[in-house]
Amino acid sequence: CSIKIDWIPLFSLLFLLLLPLPSWLYSLHNCTIDSTDSRTINCNDHKLSRIPSDIPKTAVILNVSHNNINFIQQSYFSGLTELQILDLSNNQISHIEDASFSHLSSLTVLSLIGNKLMELTDHMFTGLSNLTVLNLTENQITFVSEFVFVPLTKLLQLRLRDNRLSSISDIVKVVSFCPLLKFLDLSNNPLSSIESDDSLLLPCSNLTELHLLGNDLKDLAPSSLQMLTRLSMLNLGANSLTELFVQKTSILNLDDCFGKTLPNLLVLDAADNNIEELQRGVFSNMTCLKDLELQTKSVTEMLVYQETFVGLTDLRTLSMSPIFIFDPPSAGVGPRSSSRGRSQLQQVFNLPLLQTLRITVSKDVCVDLTKDLFKGLDDLKVLSWRGCFWNADSKMFHHLPRVFNMEIRRYYVWIPVPELFQPLTVLQTLDLSENHLKSMDFLSEANLTQLQTLIIKTNDMSVINERVFEALPSLRYLDLSDNPFVCNCSNADFIDWVIRNRQVYVNGAYQYRCASLPSEQGALLLEFDYRWCWESVGFFCFICSSALVLLTLLLSFLHHFLRLHLLYGFYLLRAFLYHRQQRGRGCAEIYDAFVSYNVHDEEWVYRELLPELEGRQGWKLCLHHRDFEPGKAIMENIVDAIYSSRKTLCVISHQYLLSEWCSREIQMARCCSHTVSLVIGEVHLTHKRIKMWSRTYLSWSGARGHRGLFWERVRHALQSGAQLPDDPLPTDD
Ligand SMILES: *[C@@H]1O[C@H](CO)[C@@H](O)[C@H](O)[C@H]1NC(C)=O
Ligand SMILES: *[C@@H]1O[C@H](CO)[C@@H](O)[C@H](O)[C@H]1NC(C)=O
Ligand SMILES: *[C@@H]1O[C@H](CO)[C@@H](O)[C@H](O)[C@H]1NC(C)=O
Ligand SMILES: *[C@@H]1O[C@H](CO)[C@@H](O)[C@H](O)[C@H]1NC(C)=O
Ligand SMILES: *[C@@H]1O[C@H](CO)[C@@H](O)[C@H](O)[C@H]1NC(C)=O
Ligand SMILES: *[C@@H]1O[C@H](CO)[C@@H](O)[C@H](O)[C@H]1NC(C)=O
Ligand SMILES: *[C@@H]1O[C@H](CO)[C@@H](O)[C@H](O)[C@H]1NC(C)=O
Ligand SMILES: *[C@@H]1O[C@H](CO)[C@@H](O)[C@H](O)[C@H]1NC(C)=O
Repeated sequence: CSIKIDWIPLFSLLFLLLLPLPSWLYSLHNCTIDSTDSRTINCNDHKLSRIPSDIPKTAVILNVSHNNINFIQQSYFSGLTELQILDLSNNQISHIEDASFSHLSSLTVLSLIGNKLMELTDHMFTGLSNLTVLNLTENQITFVSEFVFVPLTKLLQLRLRDNRLSSISDIVKVVSFCPLLKFLDLSNNPLSSIESDDSLLLPCSNLTELHLLGNDLKDLAPSSLQMLTRLSMLNLGANSLTELFVQKTSILNLDDCFGKTLPNLLVLDAADNNIEELQRGVFSNMTCLKDLELQTKSVTEMLVYQETFVGLTDLRTLSMSPIFIFDPPSAGVGPRSSSRGRSQLQQVFNLPLLQTLRITVSKDVCVDLTKDLFKGLDDLKVLSWRGCFWNADSKMFHHLPRVFNMEIRRYYVWIPVPELFQPLTVLQTLDLSENHLKSMDFLSEANLTQLQTLIIKTNDMSVINERVFEALPSLRYLDLSDNPFVCNCSNADFIDWVIRNRQVYVNGAYQYRCASLPSEQGALLLEFDYRWCWESVGFFCFICSSALVLLTLLLSFLHHFLRLHLLYGFYLLRAFLYHRQQRGRGCAEIYDAFVSYNVHDEEWVYRELLPELEGRQGWKLCLHHRDFEPGKAIMENIVDAIYSSRKTLCVISHQYLLSEWCSREIQMARCCSHTVSLVIGEVHLTHKRIKMWSRTYLSWSGARGHRGLFWERVRHALQSGAQLPDDPLPTDD
């Protein structure tokens, strides 16, 4: 096999090698030059213990983060006059030599995040006259010397988050040399108080954002912030505040309220404090405030007044803990009066522009809800409730026609009524996680036609009725993670729906697990073979339809071949029923006897039988040729004749036994009436049929010499109700 040489790349390589290259390309040992911008030098992650000496003088961005540098020397940055961004984060720097940055007159951003600085000394930042951002987050700074920030006349942002500063007045003195400072982050320091000194924060009057999150502030008078007239963001979260402002005189003196001192505040974050009470008018005149965060887990209830939220005319977002209303709102009663009247939650929010309301209830509390709680929130779009509640009124959401995003986590067993959700006609997202819901059937009547996202994570649903989704025509996203599904045929339709439907994305469906039986533990819901659930149903249908077909075949067979027998059976049955009925009624018989005979024996009947029985003995007989009603079905005539006669006389001959009709007559008569059999002519009396039909009979041929006796016995038989005794006459065989 031959080696093919691709000449074009080879030529390009040669061409490149012959080009004159900038000398610095070869001089960088531990750093790389950014491929898109040759003035960006990356020395990060090289285990460097010093700043490399071969950094090009043209560098604008220098990244020396994530190395092992612990000491900054004066010589390191000499000549880097064009450097604008210097990243020294995540090193071990504990000491910076005086005037180390003095050559970096163009530097605007200096990051010293995650180092081991313990103090900021004078001359440390000498020469950084163009610096706008100084990031000292995550150091161990306890001491800041007075003139350290003097050179930083253009500083806009100072981040001192996660340090060990304890005195805010020291910081303020230092910061006073940065007249343009807008952003000051002092979060997560052990600052314990802000002195109520009017002039304290005067040097910071250009500040727009002040972060004091996670300090140890116990009280904060708005007056101490009154110099911060441009403040738009105040973060006081996770401190130890018990009240939002200290009220020293009358409750109606509103001078000391946030509205007066911080009129431009847009965001006030006082979450995770210990605020138990929000006084009347505390927010009055805060006409700009858009976002107010007051939720906390450390207090069980927050006392508010009807007038607490007055003045927040532009508020869009409010996060709170459960609130209790102080009633009555009379002027004479101070908030600290011993008889704290407190009523159920009722209308307290008069915030017509509020868009988002989040309520967080602390773990060991349960709150009573009334239907008017959300009154006055006409424009609310997002509602989040986390925590226990009692007595949720089914009309509670009637005041929230515009809510399109709702989250309710009760954490305890909850059985919502469908009516609760019916007013939410524009709801698009519903999160009902952590409610111990056993079923989501209530959603099928909840009228949520706009719902697109449904999250019911971490509940107790084992069987999902997939027909619920028919009531949610707009649904696109569903999350049912962390429910104890059973993997049996009860979920077959749901599994099939999850796999087949193309409209709804079911998040994590392939990770849903079975939780019903210990043997199923760990099995995946969608791996359950649900088809046999339907196969057994199919098999059942197969059996049913086969049985039906067979029955039809059988019936048509019977109809075709045994029609007469069936008809006869039918009459027999009818006769039997008729007989019982007649006997029950005790109907009068018209005839003494019905004479059943074959046409061949008609002559004998007319010559011998009629003259004797009708003429001499005077019986009234029914003969089918003479007495049958014309036009009636013959079978019906027979039945009627038998039943309107006391007895049936069967004239049995050879022909009679051959005739079908006659044999039926005799059978019917036997079944229903007393039968007297007269045997004439040559008949084999062992004949099976006659044996069967009539055990006793009178023989004409056998009584040839004793006609008088024969007729006497017939009269006797017709008279008596009893059957004939066994034939005493001799037989043919
Ligand atoms: C490059 O880094 C190594 C350690 O990884 C060090 O010994 C060497 O002196 C460095 N070179 C320069 C020019 O800083
Ligand atoms: C420096 O590099 C780190 C990655 O090691 C990166 O996270 C950081 O953003 C970079 N800094 C600058 C200023 O680009
Ligand atoms: C600050 O930077 C600008 C250019 O960005 C430069 O003209 C000016 O001289 C710098 N200031 C100082 C004191 O070096
Ligand atoms: C300063 O550091 C913090 C914490 O690492 C970071 O969130 C922030 O973005 C940094 N700011 C600048 C301007 O580098
Ligand atoms: C606030 O900033 C302006 C320039 O925007 C400046 O003139 C003024 O002195 C600053 N105020 C203070 C108290 O430093
Ligand atoms: C401040 O609010 C009070 C009542 O809450 C009102 O009388 C006063 O006019 C408001 N002041 C301003 C500047 O809005
Ligand atoms: C459901 O909403 C529609 C309008 O969106 C309304 O006409 C219908 O009456 C509602 N049904 C119920 C049961 O509330
Ligand atoms: C499925 O399991 C549940 C719970 O174990 C049971 O209530 C239900 O009857 C079962 N369904 C079927 C079809 O076996």
